[in-house]
Amino acid sequence: MGRTGYILYNRKERKSREMYYDINLDNIDINAAPPTEESARQYYFMAKCREWVKDFEQKQGRLPRSCVVNMGCQMNARDSEKLSGILETIGYELTEDENADFVIFNTCTVRDNANQRVYGRLGHLNSLKKKNPHMKIALCGCMMQEHSVIEKIRKSYRFVDLIFGTHNIYKFAELLTVMFESRDMVVDVWKDTDQIVENLPVERKYPFKSGINIMFGCNNFCSYCIVPYVRGRERSRNPEDILAEIRRLVSEGVVEVMLLGQNVNSYGRNLARPMTFAGLLREVEKIEGLERIRFMTSHPKDLSDELIQVMKESKKICRHLHLPLQSGSTRILEAMNRRYTKEQYLALALKIREEIPDIALTTDIIVGFPGEKPEDVEETIDVIRQVQYDNAFTFIYSKRTGTPAAAMENQVPEDVVKEGFDKVLKVVQDTARNRVALLEGQVQKALVEEVNQQDPSLITGRLSNNTIVHFKGDGSLIGQIVPVYLKECHGFYYLGEIRDESCAQ
Ligand code: 5AD
Ligand code: SF4
Repeated sequence: MGRTGYILYNRKERKSREMYYDINLDNIDINAAPPTEESARQYYFMAKCREWVKDFEQKQGRLPRSCVVNMGCQMNARDSEKLSGILETIGYELTEDENADFVIFNTCTVRDNANQRVYGRLGHLNSLKKKNPHMKIALCGCMMQEHSVIEKIRKSYRFVDLIFGTHNIYKFAELLTVMFESRDMVVDVWKDTDQIVENLPVERKYPFKSGINIMFGCNNFCSYCIVPYVRGRERSRNPEDILAEIRRLVSEGVVEVMLLGQNVNSYGRNLARPMTFAGLLREVEKIEGLERIRFMTSHPKDLSDELIQVMKESKKICRHLHLPLQSGSTRILEAMNRRYTKEQYLALALKIREEIPDIALTTDIIVGFPGEKPEDVEETIDVIRQVQYDNAFTFIYSKRTGTPAAAMENQVPEDVVKEGFDKVLKVVQDTARNRVALLEGQVQKALVEEVNQQDPSLITGRLSNNTIVHFKGDGSLIGQIVPVYLKECHGFYYLGEIRDESCAQ
């Protein structure tokens, strides 16, 4: 769930579709009754939607355009790729321009400002819709799992055409047909599901790297967090499905995968044949042609010695671990229901650093949790100084209705929170700058991701430890792993020079 996310680049230039070529929409009889089993049912509805698109094309003399806006974490980004895959399969042209015939916001609700942003942008969509009578607007994702949100949209944003949640996203094609046939707002939000539907089309943003869901949901119930309420209980995908998906991606040119889950360290516990996350990584490592493996996110309480060993021995697992701290105060950690103490976290971080010295550690920190005092903030700062993170995402506590923390009485006044937040941020920036600078003068391998948007003579690559490096080169290197001399550290990124293969470390 971290935001160490991938840099965006021109979607038109390079994109890649994962299609299940054995499924041909032309062979589906849309006059027959829809199949009951998934994913065949969704392909049936895709074939139906395609008729609607063809009709639009005939009448308007152009293809309808659709815009998928991702507003959340990497799990959401992957969901957005699935939405795009379905839209493209049924014939929509994809665009990043919100002035389109179909616009869908894939929302986040982890903090309240994410919700406010959605309402603001909906106002803008309304003005676009008034000018384009064909325009349809849909909302999905985590925010839609909240009852109060649906009530508000029904009342004040009546121009929205379709709303669905996180559990029935696989039914997108079916919901689109309902929307096409309905004049009223279509709302379909489920409380939970135990379904995992495989084999739907995905439109990948990058041809050379991809996120892979390995599990959905969360069972941890940290007291501030809304995720377990909007993403439901933990469900792991079968390892065979994950490995088959990665093999197919690799055959399509993917060299780096990011295994995604709210808490990857508890992967596999609910499978018929339980498997650990470390066990899954061992299998992923064996996939020939795959060069790099990343994963996100790890809960410190579940990070096993087995995982540390697998990371240490691996040639493919990147030297980066995102290990959310949230607070350095044992008292606050207890109130957060994190189930580790300051000392346990520090011991874990130390053990990881000892076993894998070149690893970059990043973290998430919340300032202003109910009851937090200046001395608790000092404890957090102490952990930052001791661990020396390469980066830390610092958040102001946001009260999420329905979570245990929202009902706590000792909410911290805004000015006190702001003061603590600024202090933490300053320490994070100073320590991170020093950590990142440690690589200066080294030659490291970088996966080239894009042409630099400000200076097209430069290309941008990512090191195994997730640090960004810009260096002279051209777009033909995108997707390749090249050795780069890390010449100058500029805070959080490097300026470098491409080197001869033989000097790579
Ligand atoms: N307020 C502030 N930050 C939060 N996070 C999760 N819930 C909240 C909240 N209510 C942060 C945590 C988590 C990251 C994804 O978002 O730090 O790790
Ligand atoms: Fe991701 Fe959580 Fe936001 Fe949902 S609420 S998009 S799971 S960060």
